[in-house]
Amino acid sequence: MARFAHDTVVPYQHSVLPKKEQVAEMFDDISPRYDFLNRFLSAGIDIQWRKKAIRQLNSLQPKFILDVACGTADMAIMCWRELHPEKITGIDISEGMLAIGRQKVHKAGIKAIELLKGDSEAINFESNSFDAVTVAFGVRNFQNLQQGLSEILRVLRPGGKLVVLEFSKPKSPLVKSFYYLYMKVITPNMGKIFSKNRHAYEYLDASIQKFPEGNTFLEILKNSGFKNNYRKSLSLGICSIYCGEK
Ligand SMILES: C[S@@+](CC[C@H](N)C(=O)[O-])C[C@H]1O[C@@H](n2cnc3c(N)ncnc32)[C@H](O)[C@@H]1O
Repeated sequence: MARFAHDTVVPYQHSVLPKKEQVAEMFDDISPRYDFLNRFLSAGIDIQWRKKAIRQLNSLQPKFILDVACGTADMAIMCWRELHPEKITGIDISEGMLAIGRQKVHKAGIKAIELLKGDSEAINFESNSFDAVTVAFGVRNFQNLQQGLSEILRVLRPGGKLVVLEFSKPKSPLVKSFYYLYMKVITPNMGKIFSKNRHAYEYLDASIQKFPEGNTFLEILKNSGFKNNYRKSLSLGICSIYCGEK
């Protein structure tokens, strides 16, 4: 199975734990401040990115959706509001993130969303169970990207669609300089102040740097068995939507 550079990028350099356990520990730790920092650091643009990603499913009108690495359920809640499916299942390895997500789902009074502890690399569902799978800012955190994508393909029904939303690096030199200042100076310092976890926001930058983005990610989707794959670049290239079908 192919391995990629970001598979080995970990939040805590001195920890001997595998990436998956470190990632779960880090998200447990920052979960109470995750939503606030997300909105604050993206100036709310992430909401537009999520909406555009979900719109890729409009024509499919999926009834059963799996949101992998669902975190605090933003994507699941938005999918429910935009697409009105019968059921959305969210899985995540961080109990802390799931707990916040469950509170939000309960508060919104949405019965069609269920959030479960679960690993993208060993998905606890039968093959061909879902019409669509979404992963927002999750694939970069997988310990084994190839294994995660194979599992997603397995649980999608034939004709089902995967939508991935993930950070990417801008190409324009002008945007690049602002971006690097933002990611290397502003984000880690804001993250340190508000989340009290400097590692989390240094890890964010390190994992984006190593992530196989753009055409490389499309190639990985193809090699994993997805077809009709395409990418949409968002906000001058700092984020991307990738789609593929089973
Ligand atoms: C940056 S957060 C994104 C959360 C949410 N999707 C969102 O859009 O805000 C990344 C999430 O991926 C989860 N995660 C990382 N590796 C995972 C895996 N192997 N299986 C399931 N979830 C995973 C983390 O626990 C974390 O909640």
